[in-house]
Amino acid sequence: MSTCDDVFSRPKRFLLRLLKNYRSALLPVLSALLLAGCYAFVDDEAPPEWDDPAGAQQDVGAIAAAGGPGAGVFNAKCAVCHQMDGTGIPGVYPSLVGSELATGNPDLPIKIVLHGFQGPIERNGTQYNGVMQPWKNDLSDQEIADVLTFIRTSWGNSASEVDAETVVNVREATKSKAGAYTEEELKSSL
Ligand code: HEC
Repeated sequence: MSTCDDVFSRPKRFLLRLLKNYRSALLPVLSALLLAGCYAFVDDEAPPEWDDPAGAQQDVGAIAAAGGPGAGVFNAKCAVCHQMDGTGIPGVYPSLVGSELATGNPDLPIKIVLHGFQGPIERNGTQYNGVMQPWKNDLSDQEIADVLTFIRTSWGNSASEVDAETVVNVREATKSKAGAYTEEELKSSL
């Protein structure tokens, strides 16, 4: 036996015996330590932001402050086609940025939103021939006023605001309109 073995043989034997005798007791202790470690780790983590109702509320507040109530209607109902920045998709959904119809006489965009819009149009040299659905049964007069005010005052557009009373009047005046407006119908309706 070398000197080295001599020096370590005793503690080694002692440790082996300890392990053998207490193996059944050690396992639960080790598992408990491991679990405690995990919990300690979880506890240390800051709560994720999406789990913070106050933070979410602040976001909603910030959106409303930046775009008024119409921003919420736009994002929920119109952005899927006209996009969040209003620029649409060339050849499919026309841009609302600089749109003559959106920013001109408010009666026209009100008619479009109430009854829908369809048929061939040309915008900035691009042809469109799509169908926009009517919203008269889905949006209140106030919501239509809000969303049009948002569109007319966003992304560089600077047209007048639209109030709910104007929407009430256009809704009443066009209540017998069937189907979506075409561009010709719209322009000759003024
Ligand atoms: C499902 C897709 C879709 C949604 C949602 C939609 N639109 Fe449209 N919108 C269109 C299409 C398509 C046209 C063009 C129709 C055509 O080709 O004649 C259009 C045209 C318009 C125009 C005329 C723009 C121009 O310059 O000719 C306005 C204004 C408008 N939409 C406003 C809205 C508003 C406000 C909302 C939300 C309340 C909305 N749209 C939701 C598809 C959509």
